[in-house]
Amino acid sequence: MPVPLLDLNAQNLALETELKAAFERVLRHGQFILGKEVTQFEEAIAKCTGAKHAIGVSSGTDAILLALMAAGIGPGDEVLCPSYTFFATAGCVARVGAKPVFVDADPVTFNIDVADAARRVTPRTKAIIPVHLFGQAAAMDDVLALASQHNLRVIEDAAQSMGAAYRGRQLGTIGDMGTYSFFPSKNLGAFGDAGLLVTNDDALAERSRLLRTHGSKPKYYHKLVGGNFRLDALQAALLAVKLVHYASYTERRRANAAYYTAQLRGLPGVALVNESTAGAKILLPVAQPGNDHIWNQYTLRVIGAGRRDALRALCDARKVGTEIYYPLPMHAQECFAYCGCQPGDLPVAMQLAGEALSVPIYPELNRAQQDEVIDVIRQFLA
Ligand SMILES: Cc1ncc(COP(=O)(O)O)c(C=O)c1O
Repeated sequence: MPVPLLDLNAQNLALETELKAAFERVLRHGQFILGKEVTQFEEAIAKCTGAKHAIGVSSGTDAILLALMAAGIGPGDEVLCPSYTFFATAGCVARVGAKPVFVDADPVTFNIDVADAARRVTPRTKAIIPVHLFGQAAAMDDVLALASQHNLRVIEDAAQSMGAAYRGRQLGTIGDMGTYSFFPSKNLGAFGDAGLLVTNDDALAERSRLLRTHGSKPKYYHKLVGGNFRLDALQAALLAVKLVHYASYTERRRANAAYYTAQLRGLPGVALVNESTAGAKILLPVAQPGNDHIWNQYTLRVIGAGRRDALRALCDARKVGTEIYYPLPMHAQECFAYCGCQPGDLPVAMQLAGEALSVPIYPELNRAQQDEVIDVIRQFLA
């Protein structure tokens, strides 16, 4: 039985009537840039996350760029960011003219290793960007302690984790600013690119709103050099339809993760990633205590040279969709060679890049499909 990595139609077509009505509403009123739909969506996200300000933007990438610009990060500054993440995190640091300083990963959560970050602080360090990877929080108490010790801005890249919490606090609202992505594969997926920035800081919110529209206020009078980072009214209207169902999407993702873990855990050679790993062939992801994980990904660590690729090939042969998030850490990317980091400098990030394999976890995945994924893994271990 084929099992796709993601099935957007299963989620979106279930809401076809409401989505078409939202589309028609925007079509008819004709205000496509900002306006009522964007404001209402921003208010809804502010309410869900508890953030004081929510600012709809064109993508999760632009949310990070905007946050860095609003924080005044630029040439001569260094920004601590994980190497094991999607490109946008470090890419935005480079785009504002600052230097990304790559930090190793925690082998259990895949998130930034804050002790390693501490070793890389210099007098030029101005900010840290913890990424809450795969739907689970980075160690935010440690991040905040490091930031306060060195007077660093904290920008949370919560592209994959809107709605997840750390010790009761919503991700994105813990640091100075937080960023979300609504890329279609995210837990709240748009119909194209979309993102959002949250902050509790009035001055940063004001600067971000200005920078979102070329720094102009009033129109054609530019206080700052910004960009066009606006969220489309159409995306906001469509996202608002899906936001109503967000809690149920999360619940189903959690149930799917719990089912995988319950079924796989008993297989010989399988252990939880935070257990003693001697002899284990596959390590299952875990939610750390205090983390309300929202399971954007269910990512296995497949131990042993070449073994991850062998499991992936078997999944391909049995038509089970998988993805490698991420095959090459940022510090080893060609475009960041100028940062002066050798691949071996961040050994955990390199190890995870060779072991990680994400399997389908989307909310509409049914038990028969999950059983198929489990059966492939069973065959692999046999
Ligand atoms: C960790 C992380 N940061 C940033 C982004 C960028 O978001 P977007 O694709 O909406 O620009 C993504 C999503 O792809 C992501 O996974």
